[in-house]
Amino acid sequence: MNSQFAPLSPGTLTERHYEMLVQAVVDYAIFMLDPAGFVVSWNAGAARIKGYDAAEAIGQHLSVFYTDEDRRAGKPAYLLERALREGRAQDEGWRVRKDGTRFWALVVIDAIRNEQGDVIGLAKITRDITDRREAEGRYDALRAQLFQAQKLEALGQLSGGMAHDFNNLLTIILGAAKLASRTDDPERLASLLDNIQTAGERGAQMTRNLLTFARNEPKHTRQVALNELLDSAATFFSQALPRTMTLQMQVDDALHTVELDPSELEMALLNLVLNARDAMGGVGTVQLQAGNRQLAGEVDGLHGAFVVIAVADQGCGIDPAIRPRLFEPFFTTKDVGKGTGLGLCQVYGFARQAGGGVQVESVSGQGTIMEIYLPASCAQAAVAPA
Ligand SMILES: Nc1ncnc2c1ncn2[C@@H]1O[C@H](COP(=O)(O)OP(=O)(O)O)[C@@H](O)[C@H]1O
Ligand SMILES: [Mg+2]
Repeated sequence: MNSQFAPLSPGTLTERHYEMLVQAVVDYAIFMLDPAGFVVSWNAGAARIKGYDAAEAIGQHLSVFYTDEDRRAGKPAYLLERALREGRAQDEGWRVRKDGTRFWALVVIDAIRNEQGDVIGLAKITRDITDRREAEGRYDALRAQLFQAQKLEALGQLSGGMAHDFNNLLTIILGAAKLASRTDDPERLASLLDNIQTAGERGAQMTRNLLTFARNEPKHTRQVALNELLDSAATFFSQALPRTMTLQMQVDDALHTVELDPSELEMALLNLVLNARDAMGGVGTVQLQAGNRQLAGEVDGLHGAFVVIAVADQGCGIDPAIRPRLFEPFFTTKDVGKGTGLGLCQVYGFARQAGGGVQVESVSGQGTIMEIYLPASCAQAAVAPA
């Protein structure tokens, strides 16, 4: 009996077994290169993914699997050099099959050393993740559409408060213009014109805010100074509340910088403020608090330096029975035309994508606190003491 085919058990694995293992893998292209980048071994996965059989592939330089653009840009040589220098190189990008078609590849190249520590070759593992990339693209497109739909819905909700504000401004402007046309006193005239100008400028600022908010722009993640963002968004949020309600802001100084798309954060906070408004039946104070917080797993298992932004109300509270469904898209307890059930879904999706989470505390009949946790951006988390 051939000992190669004896049952496998730890300690009895031979080189041949390892070779069989590598050959059996068909979902990953696993092959070896010599230090100059020429193929010296080729598994079944490589044949399946790249379309060359072992006889064709062995002896080829790895650059044949790259696109013309990448070859011109010197990418194969760069990755090779990097793997030799640092022990490892990773890449994600288009690669070319034998028949000329492209696939999106996730690539890892590791340097292999002998017992003396000399590099004797490179191990290259390539995965075809074209399907995953396409699914992600579709998901992003859907998310962008949902986000835009959400914005339009929120704009609809804001327009009531805005119309009221514009009306007030127009009343000031028309009143002052009427008085100005009747007065002979140059000082009074100057002061009335001043009023007109101030009211006009406020109206223009409101329109600008509205247009910035409504703009359909692709997601743009960047480093955001939260103190500034919350400062400038405060007026905007308070316009979401009727006159009978107030927004109280309590924002700590020196909040961590976070990495996110600011318009998504504004949208998430607006969603929380609108929910607080609906929960309180039109009277009372909505509180928005923000501070830095160090987490050690107590919220969604998150660890590290975070900023927490909380929106609190003393409204109807949330029935524990519906608590598990809050973040579901289209889950709403509100009447048709009053709610779409997309608000908390956006809040949750946004917070998770930013690397954070959402925490809900609520007592039926007493009120609700919704907290969004956002991770301090990496550069800063390293310095942040607590
Ligand atoms: N602050 C809150 N107080 C009480 N209930 C809330 C609060 N926020 C959310 N909810 C509940 O969660 C549901 C889903 O909220 P959301 O996703 O924003 O959709 P919508 O506001 O359109 O109903 C609401 O219908 C409501 O029942
Ligand atoms: Mg809502």
